Amino acid sequence: MPVPTDPVPWADRVVLGDGLAALAGVPAGALDAVYLDPPFFTGADQVGDRGRFEDRWPTLEAYLAWLQPWVAESRRALKPTGWFWLHLDWHAVHYAKVMADGVFDRRHFRNEIVWAYGGRRMPSAMRFNQKHDILLLYARSAAARITPLFLPWTREEYLALKRQHVHTEPDGREWIWGHAGRGNPRAYKIDVKDAVSRGRAVTSVWDIPILNTSDHERVGYPTQKPLELLRRIVAASVPEEGIFGDFMVGSGTSAVAARQLARKFIVADQSADAVRITVERLESTGAQVREGPWTY
Ligand SMILES: C[S@@+](CC[C@H](N)C(=O)[O-])C[C@H]1O[C@@H](n2cnc3c(N)ncnc32)[C@H](O)[C@@H]1O
Repeated sequence: MPVPTDPVPWADRVVLGDGLAALAGVPAGALDAVYLDPPFFTGADQVGDRGRFEDRWPTLEAYLAWLQPWVAESRRALKPTGWFWLHLDWHAVHYAKVMADGVFDRRHFRNEIVWAYGGRRMPSAMRFNQKHDILLLYARSAAARITPLFLPWTREEYLALKRQHVHTEPDGREWIWGHAGRGNPRAYKIDVKDAVSRGRAVTSVWDIPILNTSDHERVGYPTQKPLELLRRIVAASVPEEGIFGDFMVGSGTSAVAARQLARKFIVADQSADAVRITVERLESTGAQVREGPWTY
């Protein structure tokens, strides 16, 4: 099998093996974004119809000691304008935040994204139902800029948020008063149609439904994330022609998102099931599988 001769031979790959080793093999300063969705320190192995992975560490300290080099290698692999996403939940995120601050510098922490996923509610007297994950977002340096994202919305949704009286001109055009902001008394007219067509700017709270048991996206791998979540991550932090990395790719959601958005990628997982599913999902997008030292 000939060795690939691409200008960036480690890009557009699915690697079967240790993700940390794959990450360490990426040249320094090469990636636009790294997304890591590690085991969450739940204390229980995660089992699906097609695949499983371990999520047991003897102590929280042992878990953080395992995770720290992943964060440090991610930082090394990022361009100065790059982004690091660490996806966790209540089990360890607060401790991991302190650890990641030590690697990236607290000043480069840009967002705590709340992925609010909804799902079945079973009221409990012990605590509120836990229905969100946290994504910690770090910039590699002060030079990093995200691409703002916008979602479509209806006139009714826009007006419900604005809570303003709607004025109507004789020609039917609708407008509301807008205000320049804190400490600035200036008011101006906002054309309702224009504002609705610009879309709703995405904030730090992302309402994206979790994949339910019979969801058409489901591939049987445990903890599979929705494509919409990964499409937002790629679209916001990887420019066109940019390169994205995920070294715990699981069912390949991020690779599919990168492919759909025409970004280059390198992804890895130590689970053969995960890599097989990832390659299958990529092939179903029409991509060609390459054999050799790389799986894809
Ligand atoms: C939470 S899952 C990722 C799920 C993925 N985001 C998706 O949408 O399907 C975590 C993954 O980390 C992988 N993993 C854990 N340790 C690893 C290691 N040392 N190298 C590569 N992958 C690893 C597991 O095999 C598992 O697939």
